[in-house]
Amino acid sequence: MTSTGPTDRPLLVHCCMSQKKPVLNIAMIGYAFMGKAHSNAWRQVGHFFDLPFDIHLHTICGRNKEATDKAKEKLGWSHSVYDWHEVVNNLEIDVIDINTPNHTHAEIAIASAKAGKAILCEKPLAKNLAEAKSMLKAVEDTGVINMICHNYRRVPAVSLAKKLISEGILGNRVYHFHARYAQDWLCDDQFPMTWRLDKDTAGSGAHGDIHAHIIDLGHFLLGDFDEIVASFETFTKQRPKADNPSQLEHVTVDDAAQMIGRFKSGAMANLEATRFAQGRKNNIVFEINGEKASLRFNFEDMNRLELFEADAPKSNQGFKSIIATESSHPYSGRYWPPGHVLGYEHTFINTIADFVSAIESKQNPSPSFADGLKVQAVLEAAEKSWKERAWIKI
Ligand SMILES: NC(=O)c1ccc[n+]([C@@H]2O[C@H](COP(=O)([O-])OP(=O)(O)OC[C@H]3O[C@@H](n4cnc5c(N)ncnc54)[C@H](O)[C@@H]3O)[C@@H](O)[C@H]2O)c1
Repeated sequence: MTSTGPTDRPLLVHCCMSQKKPVLNIAMIGYAFMGKAHSNAWRQVGHFFDLPFDIHLHTICGRNKEATDKAKEKLGWSHSVYDWHEVVNNLEIDVIDINTPNHTHAEIAIASAKAGKAILCEKPLAKNLAEAKSMLKAVEDTGVINMICHNYRRVPAVSLAKKLISEGILGNRVYHFHARYAQDWLCDDQFPMTWRLDKDTAGSGAHGDIHAHIIDLGHFLLGDFDEIVASFETFTKQRPKADNPSQLEHVTVDDAAQMIGRFKSGAMANLEATRFAQGRKNNIVFEINGEKASLRFNFEDMNRLELFEADAPKSNQGFKSIIATESSHPYSGRYWPPGHVLGYEHTFINTIADFVSAIESKQNPSPSFADGLKVQAVLEAAEKSWKERAWIKI
């Protein structure tokens, strides 16, 4: 079946003659952490980017009426509903933005694709590879625009790293990609169970949640992985039940995951994801070492990219710290004068700006569901590797 994309139909029902641009009606499912980040981005994006549409925060969806209605007011949505099928079946809606736990992504995305909606889906794409494949099939069969929200690609300093690599700054050979995503929110063994610690709802732990982001950064910056070997650990195996702390529940996912491997280019990879690194809050660090240069990034100092160039005279060689806020740097020119730094929320605004442009151009943005599936394939290969204590070809 080939669907007409949302922008193929005549201007939408609510569009009046005086409006210069067509209106893009957004429905967002899930209103907590990512719901807040995405709502902010949908509200802000038109303030900074010249968009082909006016963005209407049409409907927010949750399960609990009181909490969803409260979120509707606070986050600036026009309507609220309490069953996601209502937004998927609503002909006024153009875009479904999925911000719910991982086990719900596949069912909502597949139904959204069948309804002809453009889809922005939070990462990881799905709970497992089989679900991810069925999601990709659904968007390919229906031809709807699709994107997975690996927002760290759109940190200006990270996009700058990509640009410099594409221009050949590293030289002909890349030797190493070393990446770590470290948090510490599970160090407290009294931290209660959540959907994130249950394999049935999350798929995996730190692995699918945060390893997924640095695997995607590896794909973005250096291309596909060839083979990997992995190990996992669950340091705290039982945690208090959220609504009854005297009862303990089993944690069924990893607290930390490690992977070494190789890219198809021959570069070596070394990745780690952990929720048990005391003092590390949202610490995404990568270093890439090539024949002619090295690049280093740390999300906790996200406006900077460090660059070492081997061609510089030995007497003044060293890492320099580029503050990626010039108008010539990716995305930065949309915001403030140089040195007026950006934050976490801008990564979502940049992502949504590119997603909206993709709806107009009818070309999938990157990362699409196809890219999300690639990440899922690496995630699943790592789990297989640990189970079989073996190297796995991707
Ligand atoms: N891009 C990122 O950096 C990033 C960061 C955090 C989370 N995430 C991803 O975003 C997704 C949501 O994570 P979160 O941190 O916002 O979780 P959360 O627990 O803070 O929020 C989940 C929301 O989904 C709602 N929900 C759950 N089941 C639902 C259903 N069946 N129908 C409608 N609503 C439902 C909950 O009520 C809640 O509003 C996850 O897939 C997660 O991996 C991405």
